[in-house]
Amino acid sequence: MTAVAEKPAGGAAPAGEVPSFTVTLRIQRFNPEVDTEAHYEEYQVLAHATDRVLDALHQIKWEQDGSLSFRRSCAHGVCGSDAMRINGKNRLACKTLIKDVNPDKPITVEPIKGLPVEKDLIVDMEPFFDAYREVMPFLVTNGNEPTKERLQSQADKDRFDDTTKCILCAACTTSCPVFWTDGQYFGPAAIVNAHRFIFDSRDEAAEQRLEILNDKEGVWRCRTTFNCSEACPRGIQVTQAIQEVKRALLTRKF
Ligand code: SF4
Ligand code: F3S
Ligand code: FES
Repeated sequence: MTAVAEKPAGGAAPAGEVPSFTVTLRIQRFNPEVDTEAHYEEYQVLAHATDRVLDALHQIKWEQDGSLSFRRSCAHGVCGSDAMRINGKNRLACKTLIKDVNPDKPITVEPIKGLPVEKDLIVDMEPFFDAYREVMPFLVTNGNEPTKERLQSQADKDRFDDTTKCILCAACTTSCPVFWTDGQYFGPAAIVNAHRFIFDSRDEAAEQRLEILNDKEGVWRCRTTFNCSEACPRGIQVTQAIQEVKRALLTRKF
C-alpha cells in the first residue's frame, strides 16, 4: 500500500497543520489459544508525520482490533518495554517515527527474535532477565557500612558511564546471531550490565562477575558481529563494552 498524502480539498494542508497520510502495518499475530503458528495481518491507519510506530499500534488496538497485544509503558524511550522488529530491525516503537521507516511500503512489525512468543508482539522476557540476574547487577561492597558517601572521581565514573544508560529493552541480545542459535549465551545486555559494575571503582565483586562470564556461554561466545551496538536505542557502545570485559578477563585489570 502506498503512503498517500491526504490533502484537504483545494490544495495543501493549511499552515501549521501536520499533513497526514495512510500507512499499512503488516503485523505478526499469534494467539496461543487458537493458532498453531504465527501469521501476518494488515491494518491501515491514518498517520501524521510526527507519529511513531507506537501511535499506529495504539490506533489499531483502540479503533480496529482490541485483541492486538504488545507491551509498552512510558511511551518515551525510558522503560524499555516496547522493543520489536520494525522492518527487520530491532527498535523501540515509541522512538521510531513512521516517516523514517519507509511508509511508502507496508511496515512489518514482528516480535523480537530468540525469545518465546507469548502473544502477538509479546515475548517471554524471563530467559533474558535470568541472564541479567546471573551477573549480579548490583553494587557489592565488603566491610562495615560507610559513615559517609563513597566518593568517586569523574575519571572513575567515566569508566563505566556508558553502560549505566541501559534500559533493559533486550534489543541488543535479540539481535545477536549467537543468541539466536541456542539462547544459552548470556547475551550482550547481561554483559553490559556486568560491565557497569566490574568497572565501578566502588564495587568489590568484579572477579566474581568475570568468572561468571568466563563460562562457555559467556563473553567468549561473542563473535564481534556489532548487531548489538547497532540495535541499542540508547547508543551504548555494546560491542566495545564486551571487548573491555574480555580484556579484563585476560589482564585482570579493571
Ligand atoms: Fe537495550 Fe542497549 Fe541495554 Fe541492550 S544495552 S538492553 S539494547 S538499552
Ligand atoms: Fe552478538 Fe554483539 Fe557479539 S551481536 S556476537 S554480542 S558483538
Ligand atoms: Fe517505554 Fe518505549 S514504551 S521505552
